[in-house]
Amino acid sequence: MTNVTFQKIIQEVQKQIIGLAKQNGWMWFYNLHQKEVVESANDLLKLYPQADKKIVLVSCWLHDIAHYYARNEEEILAVKKNHHIDGAKVAGEILINYKLNQEEIEKIKSCVLKHRNHQDYAPETLEEKVVATADALSHFRSIFYLTYFKFHPEHSLEEMVKIDLDKIERDWRDLGLLPKSRKIAELEYKTLKKMLSSYKG
Ligand SMILES: [Fe+2]
Ligand SMILES: [Fe+2]
Repeated sequence: MTNVTFQKIIQEVQKQIIGLAKQNGWMWFYNLHQKEVVESANDLLKLYPQADKKIVLVSCWLHDIAHYYARNEEEILAVKKNHHIDGAKVAGEILINYKLNQEEIEKIKSCVLKHRNHQDYAPETLEEKVVATADALSHFRSIFYLTYFKFHPEHSLEEMVKIDLDKIERDWRDLGLLPKSRKIAELEYKTLKKMLSSYKG
């Protein structure tokens, strides 16, 4: 992939995502998650410079593309379940419009498919690990865990504490894919865990 193609993809995908986010009310998700994932990936690329930067960054821009089509909180909860599978498909449809070879398209699709570090789709290549780790790392560097009630306004504090604590542990586990990432998020991990665990419900 040439630098020109890379820049063009990033620019156009970003524009498309912002358009969908504005249309469907996901600008807050774009601001707190999308931007942080790209920033986290750039930091990880400094720690793991052998990774293919262009593959990683295009994949990061596309990794949650399926989310932006949801039109409300209810729809996003339904979309969320398979957004890695749907996202890989959408990524393939978008990337076909650019001067990329098939191998590059497959690599990016695979990064999107495996970004959740799900056992059925476990990251294997370094690029896949950087994308999955950037996704988890971003949660420690934004107000991600504090958005719980935007998705589940009817839940109790007890449920929020339990589900957020479980999610924090899963994210910390995911950082184990690239252990150097844990240094970046260690303070936030310990602080969030301590704060949530202190709830005396
Ligand atoms: Fe995701
Ligand atoms: Fe994500």
